[in-house]
Amino acid sequence: MDSFAGRVGVVTGGASGIGKALVLGLVREGAKVVVADLDEPAMAGVVAEVRNLGGEAIAVRTDVSDRKHVEALAERAVATFGAVHVLCNNAGVGVWGPLESATHQDWEWVLAVNLWGVIHGLEAFLPRMIAARQGGHVLNTASMAGLVATQGLGVYNTSKYAVVGLSETLAKDLRPYGIGVSVLCPMGVATRIRSSERNRPAHLRNPTERRAEPVELMGRTLEPEAVAAMALAAIRENRLYVVTHEEGLDAIRRRFQRIEQAVPRATS
Ligand SMILES: NC(=O)c1ccc[n+]([C@@H]2O[C@H](COP(=O)([O-])OP(=O)(O)OC[C@H]3O[C@@H](n4cnc5c(N)ncnc54)[C@H](O)[C@@H]3O)[C@@H](O)[C@H]2O)c1
Repeated sequence: MDSFAGRVGVVTGGASGIGKALVLGLVREGAKVVVADLDEPAMAGVVAEVRNLGGEAIAVRTDVSDRKHVEALAERAVATFGAVHVLCNNAGVGVWGPLESATHQDWEWVLAVNLWGVIHGLEAFLPRMIAARQGGHVLNTASMAGLVATQGLGVYNTSKYAVVGLSETLAKDLRPYGIGVSVLCPMGVATRIRSSERNRPAHLRNPTERRAEPVELMGRTLEPEAVAAMALAAIRENRLYVVTHEEGLDAIRRRFQRIEQAVPRATS
């Protein structure tokens, strides 16, 4: 997709952080956008910013962990703007702490948003995008935590590794339809991810207040606008991996070296 002009984007988690920056970036490049999030006041603020830029956006309150919500979102997007060309499955939440003390609620919540949220996006939007025969692009927000394991981040790592694997296969599966796939893998970004607990539903709260401090990430903390700009460039150029921090390279290399070293070789 060489240009976003006249295209329609949907951004989940579009009320804050990376999602908000994706919304504003798409609008600046001429797209109309559907902002989908749990946080209605923040979404209203984003839509107002879009209008100030002279762009068009609507807000649809959506819980991505609820398949029916995401289906209704897709219906609303197509009813309002006629089609969807850029689907950004971006909503996500984080929990911190060692795996042996992760609660069942932690697992359910993080996988419901970070993994099932992406799956629900695909289930709802792909049939419509394929039927429209206009090509398009899917951007899934994973993380460097989807490429490298970090102690104290196991539940989140699990969800993000799944999103990377899903995206890698999706890129192959969607090629015949002219739908590209990118997977966004940032390290630190200055957003509200560290206060993800604000979005935890009541039925998945932990029985006791046993909150681990967020893991300190190495490397720079980028602004969400810089990360969104890299993601949008990758969509335009149809690149699969969007790795935003060069600081991650050594860790990625070490992981692949360890995998390579584990491969048995025939001795001659
Ligand atoms: N900030 C970082 O350092 C960082 C690094 C790597 C990856 N990420 C990923 O980036 C994505 C965006 O997060 P962010 O950093 O901008 O954080 P953020 O908290 O600023 O924004 C996340 C948005 O998602 C929304 N959201 C949460 N649960 C939702 C649900 N069930 N349904 C719909 N919306 C929901 C929130 O209301 C919020 O507006 C996430 O997938 C996150 O895992 C962030």
